[in-house]
Amino acid sequence: MAQYKLTINNQTHHVDVAPNTPILWVLRDHVNLVGTKFGCGIGQCGACTIHLDGVAIRSCLLPISSIGDRSITTIEGLSSEGDHPVQKAWIEHDVAQCGYCQSGQIMNAASLITRNANPSDEDIEQAMNGNICRCGTYVRIKAAIKTAAK
Ligand code: FES
Repeated sequence: MAQYKLTINNQTHHVDVAPNTPILWVLRDHVNLVGTKFGCGIGQCGACTIHLDGVAIRSCLLPISSIGDRSITTIEGLSSEGDHPVQKAWIEHDVAQCGYCQSGQIMNAASLITRNANPSDEDIEQAMNGNICRCGTYVRIKAAIKTAAK
């Protein structure tokens, strides 16, 4: 076990965990932020996507010992009122079906439009390629990203 100081959603947290503990489990089990989901645990589905210094990354593969002083943002901290442009577009397009993958989808989409304010269909497909939705909401996801980027 080791002690770590983390900045998550602009708040400081102290946790005492094994150095190889994935941030996904730190968030869910130690900080009680359960919006970030466990899907595959092997970096294949994208359900666990968070931002590290604003860049989308899969938290299931990210040991706490690798974080350093970088800032973590989860779906709970993406906006104060659920009013990030991507979140508003998600509601407008009624994207979610079962909803399980959606926090990861939204976090990846938010990172995309920060990097690319006017993504093409190809840009969206490429960026979102690794976020799997078992309900197949891909058409609505693409439409929502287009709306969010306007
Ligand atoms: Fe991390 Fe699937 S749970 S990529």
